[in-house]
Amino acid sequence: MSRASRLAVYPGSFDPLTNGHVDIILRGARLFDRIIVAVLVNADKAPLFPAEERLDLIREVFKGQSNVEAEMFGGLLVDYVRQRGASVIVRGLRAVSDFEYEMQMALMNRHLLADAETVFMMPAEQYTYVSSRLIREVVALGGTVTGLVPPEVEGRLAARHAAGKTRRR
Ligand SMILES: Nc1ncnc2c1ncn2[C@@H]1O[C@H](COP(=O)(O)OP(=O)(O)OP(=O)(O)O)[C@@H](O)[C@H]1O
Ligand SMILES: [Mg+2]
Repeated sequence: MSRASRLAVYPGSFDPLTNGHVDIILRGARLFDRIIVAVLVNADKAPLFPAEERLDLIREVFKGQSNVEAEMFGGLLVDYVRQRGASVIVRGLRAVSDFEYEMQMALMNRHLLADAETVFMMPAEQYTYVSSRLIREVVALGGTVTGLVPPEVEGRLAARHAAGKTRRR
């Protein structure tokens, strides 16, 4: 049997995309034939950026990278993974603090869909402390996030902050 092309799904809320996410996506794109960044709709009732905008930002950042795609999904991750015909779920691990939750999720997803394998990747050290939540907090309080998010995201955050919209609804 010839090895089928390997499709990976990288799910998350990406509210917003950070350089930590970008790091994991690029590693995934090197390891697998294609990677779909799957933006979870409705995980949080009041996201900073609506799902469409989170999706647009990811597409903008990866427009030059043909094996990176972005889509929205809702409901059970394994249903989405099955529907796309993916065999891998990519997740990032920053620190031991991510481990317990991630392991539970990976094992639950395996219980629900034995065919999909969760693959964990570590980001470059300089991104191990970066989370979307911290980025939102820093920006809301007027701090700079240069180098921690892609320039496109930084621009969008700055515009929101100037409009007084970085406080979460
Ligand atoms: N800096 C990072 N380095 C490596 N992996 C990361 C990083 N930030 C997030 N991830 C991973 O990306 C996946 C999607 O995470 P998610 O969208 O929740 O991002 P987040 O930064 O944790 O956001 P939030 O702070 O809102 O929870 C998870 O597996 C998460 O562990
Ligand atoms: Mg998180």
